[in-house]
Amino acid sequence: MDRKEKIRLHDREFRLYVDEATINAEVDRIAKEINEELKGEKPIFVSVLNGAFMFTSDLLKRITLDDTQLVFIRIASYDGVASTGDIKEVLGLNMKISDRTVVVVEDIVDTGKSLHYLNGMLKAYKPKQIKVAALFYKPDSIVEDISIDYAGIKLENDFVVGHGLDYNGLGRNLPDLYVVCD
Ligand code: IMP
Ligand code: MG
Repeated sequence: MDRKEKIRLHDREFRLYVDEATINAEVDRIAKEINEELKGEKPIFVSVLNGAFMFTSDLLKRITLDDTQLVFIRIASYDGVASTGDIKEVLGLNMKISDRTVVVVEDIVDTGKSLHYLNGMLKAYKPKQIKVAALFYKPDSIVEDISIDYAGIKLENDFVVGHGLDYNGLGRNLPDLYVVCD
């Protein structure tokens, strides 16, 4: 595919960081793990909008478990290139998850505050278990005590865009991941 090494979004420059083929190989691996580990379960995937839309689509196509369900929720915490830590629920959960295996589908775990908040929120509905799949994670940025069951690609502590992730609304459509140039 024809991809640019450098792009400009709003006032910032970004350079190619992780290409689509590498991401897809990781999604294959995560899907395989989930299909093996959750065999016999009828999981509900809880996709965290907006950023996880692309990962969710790629992942769910590879899930072969019977009676798989998908629900979207939306929370917001980012403003520009920094996590505010102040989490707002914009679109709530509209499916019963009690006694069900839930798989949270996240684009990226940065501080872990969103995931921490979500875990607490979902636990209140008494699911059978909560698993977490995150395509990207920044270990040096995580401040909350959280665990990622199906972790994708480890990133440096820099702001990234593409593959669903945005910089103030731009960049979500890019198949590859880009990192901000300083
Ligand atoms: P948290 O800091 O782990 O709570 O991250 C919250 C959310 O902010 C993530 O689920 C992403 O949607 C978004 N986010 C975190 N890091 C980045 C980034 O580097 N680029 C774009 N969005 C990000
Ligand atoms: Mg997210």
